[in-house]
Amino acid sequence: MVVVLVVAAGAAWESTALGLLAERQGIVVLKRCVDLDDLLAAASAGQADVAVLGADTHGLDQAAVDLLRKHSVRPVAVIPSGVGMDSARLRATRIGIRATVSESELTSLPDAVLADEAPSETVVPDEGQDEAVQPARGGGVLAVWGPAGAPGRTTLAAGIAAELARRGCRTTLVDADPYGGAIAQQLGILDEVSGLLAAARLTAGGMLPERFGSVQRTIGPHLGVVTGLPRADRWVEVRSGVVEHLLDVGRDHGQVVVDTGFSLEHDPASDFGSRPGRNQMTLGAIDVADEVVVVGNADPVGLSRLARGLVELRDVTGGAPVRVVVNRMRPTLGWSDKDIAGMVEGFTRLTGLHFLPDDRAAVDHALVAGRTVVESGDSALGRAISGIVDELLPESASVAPSGRVRRRTTGRGRPR
Ligand SMILES: Nc1ncnc2c1ncn2[C@@H]1O[C@H](COP(=O)(O)OP(=O)(O)OP(=O)(O)O)[C@@H](O)[C@H]1O
Ligand SMILES: [Mg+2]
Repeated sequence: MVVVLVVAAGAAWESTALGLLAERQGIVVLKRCVDLDDLLAAASAGQADVAVLGADTHGLDQAAVDLLRKHSVRPVAVIPSGVGMDSARLRATRIGIRATVSESELTSLPDAVLADEAPSETVVPDEGQDEAVQPARGGGVLAVWGPAGAPGRTTLAAGIAAELARRGCRTTLVDADPYGGAIAQQLGILDEVSGLLAAARLTAGGMLPERFGSVQRTIGPHLGVVTGLPRADRWVEVRSGVVEHLLDVGRDHGQVVVDTGFSLEHDPASDFGSRPGRNQMTLGAIDVADEVVVVGNADPVGLSRLARGLVELRDVTGGAPVRVVVNRMRPTLGWSDKDIAGMVEGFTRLTGLHFLPDDRAAVDHALVAGRTVVESGDSALGRAISGIVDELLPESASVAPSGRVRRRTTGRGRPR
């Protein structure tokens, strides 16, 4: 006997669903819950096997799905008919619900309730589902991470995004630092609206794919920015799964570069309730990234944090290649690129190692102008960032924005 909980919050499909479930042998509906909290409370009693719930249930997020699974309750989502069906299904998948049934095909609900869940598959056959849950990979997601000590994550993320855009790649720069956004300030974007918080609200309503344009500020022909948290304490508004969904939607529109926080610590309290962990934004970005760029400071403190960070990172990447950037190299430190390479390469397998010069003049000039380093005139730092982009996206290196053929060299300090 499969014991079912239902939460429909008064949706039109509820009575049909209850009728269909009641008719089917082997299914018993234990409770009609009034809302998600009621459902989670009922699930925690340990008697139910399946939760049938509207994909648009208020508050439904990855943490709630995780909690259901913790109590061995398998979620089956009903996707309301109408505009936004595909995005609702995509979002359900994103937060970990593998079985979905369209409202227009409710007759398959009892089968979905009785089906054994395959480890990583969708249970319910549902027309058009494959395309919806596996969005076309338009571009890549590049996560820029680095340990504590302000090693230059934001400067580098903004520089890489601007350089990609300069080469004609449609690029979205996302500020996902849970300790407070800085991209808006660095780029002189003064309005109060946070793109990230807007994305969080749209994700909850399943509307982000349709309204993706509204969460970005366009700051160049090929560059959009999703600004970050206006105040550090507002991280609580970004629920689990939001950053991952935002990046997935972003990659349908081109390249995505995401600036993250410094900490990779998992918050155990987030396992027991529906509140997110603070570092989930960073962990989620790294999890969905196609490549991770790790930036560390070239001084002794920075390098030891970098080494520890690379070890920690090994446990949280979903297998994405890792590239290291050692920032603020200067002769007064007394060590060479080779000395550093010897040390860093011992800690993890790298796809690439790059060095950026300490270039206070270039960053000051850029900060005062509210532009990225690569947009504010020729500089050693701008050239070095351009060299990193050559390696990240080699196909972008051959043609300059004007159509000029660029001279391509490999390795560091490429002349421009
Ligand atoms: N190559 C460089 N040369 C000189 N100054 C730099 C360089 N890279 C970054 N900086 C400066 O270092 C400071 C920290 O940089 P940034 O804000 O990019 O770091 P972050 O890792 O994002 O820090 P936070 O932890 O605050 O998010 C800034 O003042 C920036 O201008
Ligand atoms: Mg920063």
